[in-house]
Amino acid sequence: MRKNIVAGNWKMNKNLQEGIVLANELKELLNGATPNCEVVIGTPFIHLAAVAELVKGSAIKVAAQNCGDKESGAYTGEVSAAMVKSTGAEFVILGHSERREYYGETSATLNAKLALAFANGLTPIYCCGEPLAIREANAQNDFVKRQLDETIFALSADDFKKLAIAYEPIWAIGTGVTASTEQAQEMLAYIRSLIADKFGKEIAENTSILYGGSCNAKNAPELFAQPDIDGGLIGGASLKSADFKAIIDAF
Ligand code: PGA
Repeated sequence: MRKNIVAGNWKMNKNLQEGIVLANELKELLNGATPNCEVVIGTPFIHLAAVAELVKGSAIKVAAQNCGDKESGAYTGEVSAAMVKSTGAEFVILGHSERREYYGETSATLNAKLALAFANGLTPIYCCGEPLAIREANAQNDFVKRQLDETIFALSADDFKKLAIAYEPIWAIGTGVTASTEQAQEMLAYIRSLIADKFGKEIAENTSILYGGSCNAKNAPELFAQPDIDGGLIGGASLKSADFKAIIDAF
């Protein structure tokens, strides 16, 4: 059975003290309960160790939002997958459209990052999704298929089984425009069909595929009720503990 996952992506928000307050609020709201989904918070690198320590023993797990594409060495400013792992983080978000768009992340860099994430025992949350012009040209399926073909579809089945996927149409990220439930379900079903073609039906059925893009407490119940939507990658709404908790409770 695939897991339902609600993952927060704080992006470049909250200083260390504010991040600790936010993580602590969420921990208190969960109050020792086991939610009906896996709960992950993706913090900036410098928060990881403190937040991982704070949430130890709770249902909350911690993700980095990126990792380096090299193992170690003279790469000023970079943070390796091994370093991320050593903080107590268990997940790493890879291939977010903001990384692809603003930091020139390519499929080749992503493949290096994926390999290092697996080598260091991190679970990748691999992001894909099309820009507005591609959606308007109704070419989103080919676009997303290409992203997958160039990256995670080149993995071994053993590695592929360990990751989660987040489909995030770029036009819905941070814009307040959510993909309609039908658009999200349709794309996630399509991605699942591609996984079945590539790795077989069983692996496809067991892969967690999340929707991301202006997901909030209001629209989460309808989105999460869809057969192929196994949770959400949540940006803005993960910065308020009560909103994020309400999204978790949508399961
Ligand atoms: P958003 O961001 O929820 O603020 O739209 C989602 C994401 O980029 O992961």
